[in-house]
Amino acid sequence: MALITKKPRGTEDVLPRDSYRWQFLENIFREEARAFGYKEMRTPVFEHTNLFERGVGDTTDIVQKEMYTFLTKGGDSITLRPEGTAGACRAFLEHGLHNDPLPIKAYYLTSCYRYEKPQAGRLREFHQFGMECYGTQAPAADAELITAAANIFERLGLRGISLEINSIGCPKCRAEYHKALTEYYSQYRETLCEDCKSRLERNPMRLLDCKVPHDHEIAKGAPMMPDYLCDECREHFEGVKEYLDANDVAYTVNPTIVRGLDYYTKTVFEFLSGDIGAQSAVCAGGRYDGLIEELGGNPMPALGFAAGIERLLLTLDAQGIEIPAPAPCDIYIGSMGEDAHKKASQLCNILRKAGMYAEFDVVGRGLKAQMKYANKIGAKFSMVLGDDEIANGVAKLKNMDNGEQSEIPLEDEAFVKEFTAAKLAAEFAE
Ligand code: HAM
Repeated sequence: MALITKKPRGTEDVLPRDSYRWQFLENIFREEARAFGYKEMRTPVFEHTNLFERGVGDTTDIVQKEMYTFLTKGGDSITLRPEGTAGACRAFLEHGLHNDPLPIKAYYLTSCYRYEKPQAGRLREFHQFGMECYGTQAPAADAELITAAANIFERLGLRGISLEINSIGCPKCRAEYHKALTEYYSQYRETLCEDCKSRLERNPMRLLDCKVPHDHEIAKGAPMMPDYLCDECREHFEGVKEYLDANDVAYTVNPTIVRGLDYYTKTVFEFLSGDIGAQSAVCAGGRYDGLIEELGGNPMPALGFAAGIERLLLTLDAQGIEIPAPAPCDIYIGSMGEDAHKKASQLCNILRKAGMYAEFDVVGRGLKAQMKYANKIGAKFSMVLGDDEIANGVAKLKNMDNGEQSEIPLEDEAFVKEFTAAKLAAEFAE
C-alpha cells in the first residue's frame, strides 16, 4: 500500500527505539535547571502574531521570512512559536509574575517552528531547552546563566564546545554605534545585497550578520560595538567576565556576535560546536532588559538562553559519546495453555505494580516464538508457565545472562519477594 504522505520537509520523527536519547538529555536539563533554582514553564505552541513581531522584532529574518503564520477560522492571526522567549515574557506579564520574589527563574523544553532551508542541524520543527531569568541587572546573573549552560555541556561529556561572548550595549550607546555603522556602510550602499540595503535603513547591526561573501568582507572592516559601549555597559561586561573567570568558565570575546533577534541588550553569547558543520551554534542567548517593557509591562531586566536539542544530539554522535541505553526488561513470562497464560498476565501485573518491567505474550505466539522475543528484547530473566507449574505453584526462573535456573513460588507475595531478591543478586554480580 502506498503511503498517503510523508512527514513535512524539515521535520523529524523520534521513534520508540530512539526516544531514550532525548529523555537522557531532558533529564540532565531538568536536573541542572533545578540546581540553579529554575522551575518549568509551559506556554502554548502558538501565540498571537503581533507578540513575535513586537518581541522578536519585525526587521529580523525570523519575522520577515521564517514564521508559520495563519489566520484562524475566527480571523485571528496566529503564529507557531519560532522561539521560546517571547511567549515566556507574555506569560510572565499576563500572570503578574513580577509580584513573586525576584528573580523569577523559568525553564522550558519546547518545539519551535521556523520556515528555513533545511540542512544538517537546521530544521523547520526543532526543539529547544531554554532558561529565562527575570528581575536582575547584576552581571553575576549573566555569568550564572552562562555557567548553567556550560555545566550542562560538561555533564554531557561534550568536548570542544567554545563559548563566545560580546556586549551589544544599551539603547543609549547603541544609538552612537548605529550612527557609526551607517556611516561606514553608506560608502558601500550600492554594492550591498538587497537584504543589507534594507538592513542599512532599518537595523544596521544586522549588517554584520550577512552571509553573502561580498558583504561579509565589508563587515570585517566595520566599526565594532565594544569601542562604543557607555561606561555602565562596559562595567557590566567587565563584571560578567570576572564572574565567568571566578567560575572557571572559559570564553573568548567576539565583537561580531550581534544575534538574530532584536531584543538583546548588553551581554550576548553563543556556544559553538566544532563537530557539526555550518550550523554550529548549539546554544545562544543574552540579556534583554527592554523586552518586558516593549511587550507592555513595567521595565524589568531579564536574560536567558536556548540550546538546540537536535544540534546537541548531533554533537554527541559526532564525538562518539554513547547515551546509556534504557534498562532492559526484568522478566519475560512465557506460557502454554489458557490458564498459564492468564497466570502470566497476572504475575506480570503484580511485578509492574512493584516497579518492575515485565512482559508476557500479548500477540498469541507459540512458546518457541515467545522465548525468541524474550531474547530479542534482552530480558534479564525468563520463566515458562504450563499446566504443571500452575498445579504445583512453582516454576523455574532462568537468569538469561548465565543460564542459571532456580525455583520460584507462584504465590503473589512470595513471588514478588523472591524475584526482587534474584534481580538484586544479578545486579550485584554484574
Ligand atoms: P536562537 O539563536 O534563535 O535564539 O536559537 C537558539 C538555539 O536554537 C540555536 O543556538 C540552535 O542551537 C537552535 N536552533 C535555532 N534554529 C534552529 C533550527 N532551524 N534548527 C535546529 N536548531 C535550531 C533563540 O531562540 C532565543 N530565544 C534564545 C534566548 C532565550 N535568548 C534569551 N533567552
